[in-house]
Amino acid sequence: MLKVGFVGWRGMVGSVLMQRMMQENDFADIEPQFFTTSQTGGAAPDIGKDSPALQDAKNIDALRQMDVVLTCQGGDYTSEVFPKLRAAGWNGHWIDAASTLRMEKDAVIVLDPVNMHVIQDAMANGGKNWIGGNCTVSLMLMALNGLFKADLVEWASSMTYQAASGAGAQNMRELIKQMGVIHASVTDLLADPASAILQIDRTVAETLLSEQLPSAHFGVPLAGSLIPWIDKDLGNGQSKEEWKGGVETNKILGREANPIVIDGLCVRIGAMRCHSQALTIKLRQDVPMDEINQMLSEANEWARVVSNQREASMNELTPAAVTGTLTTPVGRLRKLAMGGEYLSAFTVGDQLLWGAAEPLRRMLRILVQ
Ligand code: HSE
Repeated sequence: MLKVGFVGWRGMVGSVLMQRMMQENDFADIEPQFFTTSQTGGAAPDIGKDSPALQDAKNIDALRQMDVVLTCQGGDYTSEVFPKLRAAGWNGHWIDAASTLRMEKDAVIVLDPVNMHVIQDAMANGGKNWIGGNCTVSLMLMALNGLFKADLVEWASSMTYQAASGAGAQNMRELIKQMGVIHASVTDLLADPASAILQIDRTVAETLLSEQLPSAHFGVPLAGSLIPWIDKDLGNGQSKEEWKGGVETNKILGREANPIVIDGLCVRIGAMRCHSQALTIKLRQDVPMDEINQMLSEANEWARVVSNQREASMNELTPAAVTGTLTTPVGRLRKLAMGGEYLSAFTVGDQLLWGAAEPLRRMLRILVQ
């Protein structure tokens, strides 16, 4: 059995990974060793089978004993430990949720329902570094897999509606706190059916910009508002999140030499853990809608076409409906007024499942087989 070292299993993505691995009985087929940055010698988590006491996540000699290291600890940990481990001659498999190594030549961005061929090629060539993709990119590719498989996408513009979870656990808490403070500022007015809506609105608007609103993590209000910038400013008008859309899509698809142009704006909204995105897709040819629907729904078992109707869209194509599930529904599919080669689409996906933990869990399974 492969010895698998887990790092960062207590954080948000790590916890979702642990839940999924237990649901799928993945621990039965590996020898797990849990690592820690703070509690060396402590008891391993309860995963339904015994595993040794926690080891120090910075101990290169301990990590070197592993066949696989799977980390959800974050980019700083990867930057510090990965080079030392490889310099120490370790030749095991490194599976990582952080973005640090994603664009390295010898790293594969893993999303096996979409790029099993890229993973298999890399394995045949001795690849050892398997990195999870940006959540928005992975969710878009899961949902639109059918169009990419058929090589029908000439270019695409993705306008995102990204959840608080993408910014971290503390940001999710802050979003709810902001909602609470906003509600508290008008509780009395809300209770009085005769109160004036413009008075409620004015009080809410003042609260949003007041010191009372907790904003240490987002920096500005998210509840009752939105934030039209995610991640670093690249200095050319593009955010780093927007840049990732193009480069990661093409790397995942293994088509860096023949890239598809993907660009758009990334926006944070007050959803908890589901990222949504509205796409304008330029098709290479005018394919009929029934063929498009069929391609999309048959591409993988998680992509699901939601009929482009009001009721279905409102009930099935929202963060509230999709959260906690592995489905990546795609709907609002129609030819745009620009012509038969212009397709609209809207997709939603759980940012912590297919957007983070699931591709890593499945990469581990691929190595175990
Ligand atoms: N960068 C993403 C976000 C999450 O901020 O929503 C991680 O892929």
